[in-house]
Amino acid sequence: MKIMVIGGGGREHAIIKKIKENKEAETIYALPGNGGMEKDAVCVDIPATDIEKAVEFAKNNNIDFAVVAPDDPLVLGMVDALEKAGVPCFGPRANAAIIEGSKVFSKNLMKKYNIPTAEYEVFSDMDKALSYLETAPIPTVIKADGLALGKGVIIAETRQEAKEAVISMMKDKKFGKSGENIVIEEFLTGPEVSVLTFTDGNVVKPMISSMDHKRALDGDKGLNTGGMGTVAPNPYYTDDIAKRCMDEIFIPTIKAMNSEGRTFKGCLYFGLMLTPKGPKVIEYNCRFGDPETQVVLPLLETDLLTIMMAVSKGELENTQVKFSDNSACCVIMASKGYPLSYEKGFEITFKKDVEKYTYIAGAKLEDGKLLTNGGRVLGVTAVEPTLEEAIKSAYEKVKSVSFANAFYRKDIGTRALKAKEI
Ligand code: AMP
Ligand code: GLY
Repeated sequence: MKIMVIGGGGREHAIIKKIKENKEAETIYALPGNGGMEKDAVCVDIPATDIEKAVEFAKNNNIDFAVVAPDDPLVLGMVDALEKAGVPCFGPRANAAIIEGSKVFSKNLMKKYNIPTAEYEVFSDMDKALSYLETAPIPTVIKADGLALGKGVIIAETRQEAKEAVISMMKDKKFGKSGENIVIEEFLTGPEVSVLTFTDGNVVKPMISSMDHKRALDGDKGLNTGGMGTVAPNPYYTDDIAKRCMDEIFIPTIKAMNSEGRTFKGCLYFGLMLTPKGPKVIEYNCRFGDPETQVVLPLLETDLLTIMMAVSKGELENTQVKFSDNSACCVIMASKGYPLSYEKGFEITFKKDVEKYTYIAGAKLEDGKLLTNGGRVLGVTAVEPTLEEAIKSAYEKVKSVSFANAFYRKDIGTRALKAKEI
């Protein structure tokens, strides 16, 4: 089979490495991929959002199956266009990807179908938003409606900060059209859990739970990033909580999307907060998380390509999704300065063979050398029988990777280990 994976980060590298385990996958193309994954895929210089070129490439190369991994091509309708051209895909159509593409849509969906989430108000008028903030409970959370590269959520600790956030989105147009409408919502507290699920619109099969580390610095300080590391499973996600989430959140969401005529097929990601009043949805993503995928997929025991094709055909019910009892930890090695400005072009070297479970994100090949080319450069994952061992082993592996200006958090998994003590 010829397979095409849209995207070019660590998440896509993890998906490609896992798909490769299936012997049917003779060629895997990555659009655009990156220089660090050339051993595993043929990288094609087509940007992830160029729908027209991706369709043309798929037709010219007789692609049998496509996986659309990032949010923006999904929201723009890449799956719709590929399916129209006769290419079966893993990923939701645009009318379902809106669950991530519009926070106003997802909040209204949850309200209509009684899916637990933070209380909220929607505003399209800045003055109304500002006057609401005069009396809103503080801290409060301001969210741009549309996609904003993961930066469209601001937790405001003071009324002043909240107002500045609203002005930056609605007047200064910091996120362009994405901030024309905003959501102001209740600040929730509790441990966070990421649960990626496979769904074909009929059934939903959760993957192993995970925990992201979004802040740039140790102790959850510093700016929000795309994610600096992950562990799986998430020890806060007990069997009881998993059952509640299935009954109160996952199944109701799949049904709600069907009722709206927006059947979701693909990976639906539930960003959950375990509040004192029970699990609530913080966000939906219409795709695999990054770097959640880098700990979840190495623990998947059944075949990824088989599952993805079953999702696409609506046959997930009879397909096994099974995870191992091991634990995984992924440490992201980034360029110093990320998520703000950083230098790139430094050579990446590996002292030992740490290739298994290493996923390259921001790198390019030049004259046979692998050079840094992004903020999040790569993720080093370790899989071990326990979480303690996985964390230790991931940090051992990190020592074997070097590049100038490398930066990584030293405390990935610490919070998860604390949960185990409770
Ligand atoms: P998001 O970009 O939607 O994943 O949000 C980024 C982060 O903001 C989340 O991972 C949470 O830590 C935090 N967050 C979002 N919404 C809320 C909320 N209502 N209450 C508390 N924290 C939140
Ligand atoms: N790691 C969070 C995300 O992929 O949105």
